[in-house]
Formats: sequence, structure tokens, C-alpha cells
Amino acid sequence: MVRHIIAAIAGLLAVWAIVYMAQLDREVHKLQRIHEVIEKSKLEVPVAKGQTASQQPQSAGGVAQKEESEAEKKLKVLKEKAGRMSAFDVSPLYRRNCASCHGINGEGGIGPKLIGKSEEYIHQALLDFKSGKRKNYVMYGLLQNMKEEQLTQLSQEIASFAQKLKASQ
Ligand code: HEC
Repeated sequence: MVRHIIAAIAGLLAVWAIVYMAQLDREVHKLQRIHEVIEKSKLEVPVAKGQTASQQPQSAGGVAQKEESEAEKKLKVLKEKAGRMSAFDVSPLYRRNCASCHGINGEGGIGPKLIGKSEEYIHQALLDFKSGKRKNYVMYGLLQNMKEEQLTQLSQEIASFAQKLKASQ
């Protein structure tokens, strides 16, 4: 008799366990569904908001305008560069070795502006850079392979930039 009762209890427990597990399963499914719905609604938020329909073109327009003004800026810079490039001709010696830092017409860039400096000043600066008296690695390295003659040439040419620029305007 006791065995029967125990068996009955065990059976009941088993049934209960099955039902409980099924319920848990459903719960999990529910949670999953809720999660899915939340995820979906998140995705739909930007689309579902009625106002965004009217806002989007505006913001898109704003971006386009920004891009436009940036393109304009770039164009301006290019035009300025082109303007500077065409101000007057420079020697290949200057263009190849110096223009990248001091500007195609000596207007300055990475290196200081050279327009308006005298031949003596430039020549002395070049000599000092080359000898290491005036310390600058870039100028020092650059001038190591240059002959005295080229330094004089460059000094003369750079000193003439101011006049050439005036003549070109
Ligand atoms: C890689 C960049 C670079 C190149 C290329 C370059 N320079 Fe320079 N130059 C500099 C910098 C930076 C200085 C500033 C150094 C300092 O004052 O210590 C300078 C300084 C000078 C100065 C002194 C200017 C002043 O106001 O005292 C002269 C002159 C000069 N450079 C001429 C030239 C010549 C000529 C060439 C071509 C042979 C040349 N540079 C190439 C970067 C460059």
C-alpha cells in the first residue's frame, strides 16, 4: 500500500514536473517574443515616427549643403593654389627642392615665407643651415648636396620673388 502511495506521489511529481517545464518553456517563449517585439520596434522607431518623414529630407538637405560648402571650400583652396602657381615662373631648382615647403612662389607653408627677404639674408641663412651653425635638420639635410653656386643662384632667385610677384599682379 505504501509503495502504491509513493508511486502515485512520484507519478504526480513527474506530471507536475512536466507541466512545470512546459510552463517554463512557454515563459521563455513569451520572453523571447517580447524581446523580438522590442527589437523590431527599435528598428521601426525612426520609420514609425510620423515627423521624421518630414524631417528627413530637411536633414538630408542639411548634409548635402554641408557637403556642398565643403566642396566649395576645397575648390576655393584649389583656386587659390592655382592662382599662386600661376603668379610667376620659378626655376626647376627652386621648384624641385624648396617649393614643397616654402610655397611655389616663396609664400611659405611648412617652411617660413621667403618672399621679401634680401639676397644677403637668404644666402647667409643657407650657409648657416648648411654649416650647422643654424640648426635645422630639414634645411641641413637638404643643403648638404648643394654646391655654393646653387645656393647663390637660389638666394638671387628668391630675393627676386617680391618683384616678380608685384609684376604679376
Ligand atoms: C621639407 C621642408 C623644407 C624644404 C624642402 C626647404 N625648406 Fe627652407 N626651411 C624649412 C623650415 C622648417 C625652415 C625654418 C627653419 C628655422 O628657422 O629653423 C626653413 C628655413 C629656411 C630659410 C630661412 C628663412 C628665415 O626666415 O630665416 C631659408 C632662406 C630657406 N629655408 C630656404 C630654403 C631653400 C632655398 C630651399 C630649397 C633648396 C628650402 N628652404 C627647402 C623647411 C624647408
